[in-house]
Amino acid sequence: MMKRKPQRQKTKVNPKRKNWRRQFRSLVTGKQKNWNKEKGREWGENADFWIKIIREKLDPFREIITNQAILESLKREKNLKIFDAGCGEGYLCRKLAKKGHRVFGIDFSKKLIEAARNLERKKPIGIKYFRGDFRKTNFPSSCFDVILSHQTINEIKNPEKALKEFFRVLKRKGKLVCLFLHPCFDSKKPNSLNYFQEKKIQKGYYLVSGIKSPWPYFYLHLSLSKWTELLIKSGFSISNIKEPHPPLKFFQKKWWKENFNRPRFILIEAEKTVPKKD
Ligand SMILES: C[S@@+](CC[C@H](N)C(=O)[O-])C[C@H]1O[C@@H](n2cnc3c(N)ncnc32)[C@H](O)[C@@H]1O
Repeated sequence: MMKRKPQRQKTKVNPKRKNWRRQFRSLVTGKQKNWNKEKGREWGENADFWIKIIREKLDPFREIITNQAILESLKREKNLKIFDAGCGEGYLCRKLAKKGHRVFGIDFSKKLIEAARNLERKKPIGIKYFRGDFRKTNFPSSCFDVILSHQTINEIKNPEKALKEFFRVLKRKGKLVCLFLHPCFDSKKPNSLNYFQEKKIQKGYYLVSGIKSPWPYFYLHLSLSKWTELLIKSGFSISNIKEPHPPLKFFQKKWWKENFNRPRFILIEAEKTVPKKD
């Protein structure tokens, strides 16, 4: 008589877990798919919201923390040639141009770059805006003193490409300043797998001063060690790492205690170092 193979017992899968597995697989494997197309759509849909929150100064994180952190990084230098990579509607370009720097902004959102140009047309302060991809520019090699990437290096699927381009267009000893969401604290429920796994993080919407963005957004998560490895491999030496935050006295206020309950931003300053020829 043939022996019947013992049947494997079917284990019930918790539907929540199944869902989580599916989501996780798509985060990891689907990371490369349609990234640019989805980003284009995201910024097309969110452009008016973005212009409003910036021009009406509605984002306390920007007003109190990130603007100052970036300007602080450049406060000692004068008359710099600066490339704002992913300049959006141009607010940082304007701040820097008003301080006497020569500023060039690139963004691939048609609406945002148009909004930036419109202001420049109305009140010219010498900023040059281009619509394009900051990973592949037409700038000559070694022409910038500083490159800024404010909330943009994690907007792309392959930051190593951007870093290669930044390295090319920066002068020797030029400075790269990247400010983005702190990768160690971007999850409310941290776990190691989540942290060390490179992935695309999808969020429902931006919420600023009670106003929701009309479209969801996403960004790239890499562990802090991966970010530093990428910078170093691209030829940069890291000169400073800051965690911009409000003054400590702000934490006495309920709003800041609740909304800045973890380090939200990281700022990395790096220098283009070229090995000396023997
Ligand atoms: C979070 S917003 C930040 C904009 C601006 N730096 C600011 O802080 O207001 C990200 C910007 O990066 C732009 N962007 C994303 N990937 C880009 C790319 N590969 N080349 C040029 N711009 C890009 C988007 O169009 C968007 O304006």
